[in-house]
Amino acid sequence: MIIAAVTVNSKGEQKQMGKTYNIALIGGDGTGPEVVAEAVKVVKAAGKRAGFDLTFKSFNYGGERYKKTGVTITDEEIDGLRKFDAVLLGAIGHPDVAPGILEKGILLKTRFALDLYVNLRPVKLLPGVETPLKDKGPKEIDYVVVRENTEGLYAGAGGVLKKGTADEVAVQESINTRKGVERCIRYAFDYAKKNGRKKVTLCGKTNVLTFAFDLWERAFYEVAKEYKGIKTDYAHVDATTMWMVKNPEWFDVIVTDNMFGDIITDLGAMTQGGMGIAAGGNINPKGVSMFEPIGGSAPKYTGMNVINPLAAICAAQMMLDHLGEKEAAVWIEKAVVKAISKMDSLAAGKMGMGTKEVGSMVAKFVKEA
Ligand code: IPM
Ligand code: MN
Repeated sequence: MIIAAVTVNSKGEQKQMGKTYNIALIGGDGTGPEVVAEAVKVVKAAGKRAGFDLTFKSFNYGGERYKKTGVTITDEEIDGLRKFDAVLLGAIGHPDVAPGILEKGILLKTRFALDLYVNLRPVKLLPGVETPLKDKGPKEIDYVVVRENTEGLYAGAGGVLKKGTADEVAVQESINTRKGVERCIRYAFDYAKKNGRKKVTLCGKTNVLTFAFDLWERAFYEVAKEYKGIKTDYAHVDATTMWMVKNPEWFDVIVTDNMFGDIITDLGAMTQGGMGIAAGGNINPKGVSMFEPIGGSAPKYTGMNVINPLAAICAAQMMLDHLGEKEAAVWIEKAVVKAISKMDSLAAGKMGMGTKEVGSMVAKFVKEA
């Protein structure tokens, strides 16, 4: 980021310069590029109003390039992303590429290499959005999940023996380091403190995973001591899924490991209106962070101008919030709520308008918010 500075030219004249954020765009596969384009419209409108500038550079990492070149993303390309203030990602996933190649080769590789150790997923039901939870509304469904994003079962530890035989053995181990667990938990408490949240719940499985979640539990209560005003709570992951449906209002901030976080955030996304609206951030508080809609690449809707861009717009909203543009982020959220009131549905093809129209409408509302 280039911070606002007063520059003085040779004539001694002063000029006030605004902040500029350099954003890397990875549209990715399927409808990814379409929704990213709409998110760009919206952040531009927010920047214009708030007085900051943005530059965008697009990268073609994804299934199409992989099909042509066999390359997912190289170490040098990942290094290149470090130069940016943030990365906005559309979607990764291609129908002609075997499952796992792009997910591991692009998304997970980038998360690991940039040490994006928190996956932040707000579960917030916006006004006007339908939830499948009976008798629950925006007041009840408003919490965030802080998912550990670089360890656990995703670390790739394990192996296979005698593959393809009747004696095959497959081992997949969960790696939990004190450092990795503690920094994630600390992020959750910091997040609570900074955002007026009152309680952090550890979601684990201390009754069965007595090695991993013993470490988590000790780290959790030790870190909690540093945050006097914030309450603590614990729930096993299976019970967590029950409460997320029955009593979502119990949650404020949930912190959990990578695999549990992956599972419970899809459930959370459905309770907040589904993949048309759910967004997340892959965060390294001291480095470059990457923001993405949670939904996939929806290949069957590619190029049809029918996909809902609101999730990507919400990802961009999280990005501005993370960059410190709090006011702009609030405008975008308000604009999204207003846009929802004009749309027939959040589902692809049923919005009552096209992808581009939704993006333009949100951008317009940002200017007026
Ligand atoms: C997510 C996705 C990824 C994950 C996949 C695509 C590798 O489901 O971001 O939640 O499991 O983390
Ligand atoms: Mn997932």
